[in-house]
Amino acid sequence: MSRVAVKGDVKDLALADAGRLRIEWADREMPVLRSIRERFAAERPLAGLRVAACLHVTSETANLMRTLVAGGAEVYLCASNPLSTQDDVAAALSVHYDCPTYAIKGEDHETYYGHIRAVLDSKPTVTMDDGADLVTELHRARTDLLAGVIGGTEETTTGVIRMKAMAADGALKYPVVAINEADTKHLFDNRYGTGQSTLDGIIRATNVLLAGKKVVVIGYGWCGRGVASRAKGHGADVIVTEIDATKAIEAVLDGYRVMPMSEAASVGDVFITVTGNLHVIAQEHMLAMKDGAIVCNSGHFNDEIDIPSLEAMATSHRTVRPFVEEYVLAGGRRLVLLGEGRLINLAAAEGHPASVMDMSFANQSLSLEYLAREHANLDAGVHVVPKSIDQEVARLKLATMGITIDTLTPEQETYLASWQSGT
Ligand code: ADE
Repeated sequence: MSRVAVKGDVKDLALADAGRLRIEWADREMPVLRSIRERFAAERPLAGLRVAACLHVTSETANLMRTLVAGGAEVYLCASNPLSTQDDVAAALSVHYDCPTYAIKGEDHETYYGHIRAVLDSKPTVTMDDGADLVTELHRARTDLLAGVIGGTEETTTGVIRMKAMAADGALKYPVVAINEADTKHLFDNRYGTGQSTLDGIIRATNVLLAGKKVVVIGYGWCGRGVASRAKGHGADVIVTEIDATKAIEAVLDGYRVMPMSEAASVGDVFITVTGNLHVIAQEHMLAMKDGAIVCNSGHFNDEIDIPSLEAMATSHRTVRPFVEEYVLAGGRRLVLLGEGRLINLAAAEGHPASVMDMSFANQSLSLEYLAREHANLDAGVHVVPKSIDQEVARLKLATMGITIDTLTPEQETYLASWQSGT
């Protein structure tokens, strides 16, 4: 296979056939996306669009890319995290699926941004981002391209926060649909996807028994709720830390102990950050941790753990297994950092299972179709996924699960619409 014939930059094009098998395997669990792909192939609603996508390069993402290509779009893909790429999938996308892909697992910072720039060189008309690195690069370094962009989508909580900050600054120059805000995205992907895949990453990296461990979940948003519930299911003694009083009450009523991080630091065996915020595991917390404590992150960026302080404090450090770094502190105490503090579910495991990504990426596909049709009526700024799309995804998913539900009778509809009947 010659490199010249295939556009993109991947680890090894010879991995393409293995990647295709994985992509087809994931597709079995993505019936909603598949049905959209079949309709797109017939209707070609994305014809004429050039999509620059910056997403985790996984088998699930590959099926999204196939769907956009089927819809008539020209698609270029780069990684949204240096450690989340599945190299065989990246090769398969470039070789078999007409989607030039720029992503290599473990790429350094310079290569990561080089890949974002390569995708932007395609002169996109639409962006599809996960974490907002592509959109911020476009607005900072490629302003010459902005006039040609009709809109974009953003996948994740952290990216939506960044896009809203850009919009508040008047910096965002086109409409962006916030996929994360669809119910059929965050209720399932963030909760059940992150819940399962985070524990999968920790277990694959360390093979620790979670039963009986004190697991500290830092942040009780949708991701934290999922992680805590799955850790409890493994038999862990789960402790939650929060800064939001309402979420803290919810954690207590869900059956967890809630305490400040200053207390939890000396109690926990395993620490998992899912806050989207900076240095929630800070130097003073690491100084209080037990010998052998394991710390990891499942939030979007690798700044939730103060790794520079950990490195500065450590007298030595070594890799003990893939994605497992042991730091020795003064006095001989050891702290174990997983996956360089990057998303542990994608670094050491395979990210969320296909069945939940089915709904997230159905929202992505249908929102792109919506943008293609409606962009002229949308202001620059952050927009919600139309309720009709969210509900359609739910209906389709439920049908593929073989589950039917009740409908309101005409009498009940009238009752709900009236104020006349009461006590
Ligand atoms: N984010 C979390 N899990 C993912 C997956 N499997 N594919 C793409 N993005 C993800």
